[in-house]
Amino acid sequence: MRRIGVLDSGVGGLTVARALKQVLPNEGFIYAGDTARAPYGGHSPETLLAYSREIVQFFVRKNVKAVVLACGTSASTAFEALCAEFPTLPFIDVLRPSVSEIIRRAAQKPNLRIGFIATAATVKRGLFVQWVRDACPQISIEARACPLFAPMAERGLFIGNITRWAAENYLADWRTKIDALVLGCTHYPLLSDVIADVLPNTVQIDLGESTANAVFSTLEANNLLNKTSEKPACTYYISGAPAAFNPLASKIMNEEINAKKTSWNTK
Ligand code: DGL
Repeated sequence: MRRIGVLDSGVGGLTVARALKQVLPNEGFIYAGDTARAPYGGHSPETLLAYSREIVQFFVRKNVKAVVLACGTSASTAFEALCAEFPTLPFIDVLRPSVSEIIRRAAQKPNLRIGFIATAATVKRGLFVQWVRDACPQISIEARACPLFAPMAERGLFIGNITRWAAENYLADWRTKIDALVLGCTHYPLLSDVIADVLPNTVQIDLGESTANAVFSTLEANNLLNKTSEKPACTYYISGAPAAFNPLASKIMNEEINAKKTSWNTK
């Protein structure tokens, strides 16, 4: 059975993998977490494209049928180039599908005030904000980088004083200023309880569900949905130490994960 490749810098993409498992229970996937080079958020667009390309080549050698860029940073810096370089491989990213979600919400509440948080690279690229402004000029949207959030999630600091302190510093001034907060980095849903403490009246929009729905539509449109009765298998690969990844991944996926350490250049 051909599987779906899902990539991220580390544990963040698991928030997307979790949604994929719900929406596509018959599909297997190959997860790649580039933990040796995480966090991605401070790298240049050229470096991010090179890292993402290496993982996509790894997926191609594993004969995947589609690739999910389960990383907002990779989505905003590498999506178009990868689609052009691998024209026969369907790519789905986490940012593009979520714009439709905002358009839907804006239709219900035309004066919606949105905050968008993501890595420094994603915010600097500015794509998500531009797409939303183009689609819904009447709503307000402001973006802000939260560079400590992904490294904190990568270390399992999902709750607690340090995370709370960072969230307070990044977000407290938005308390009465936004109605919805887009978690534009796939690591951020792991900190959603702390974010909700700081912004109790704000709706959080995570990218997982809209991405999983977009993966379903893409597979369906390309006639790639698994129609066999084979049990879907999921395999996890990382470039860093499994000892740090496995306990967190198991907690996020709610099942025991034993990731294999690999180099993206090997088969
Ligand atoms: N989870 C990724 C994202 O969605 C990368 C975060 C990072 O490694 O800085 O942007």
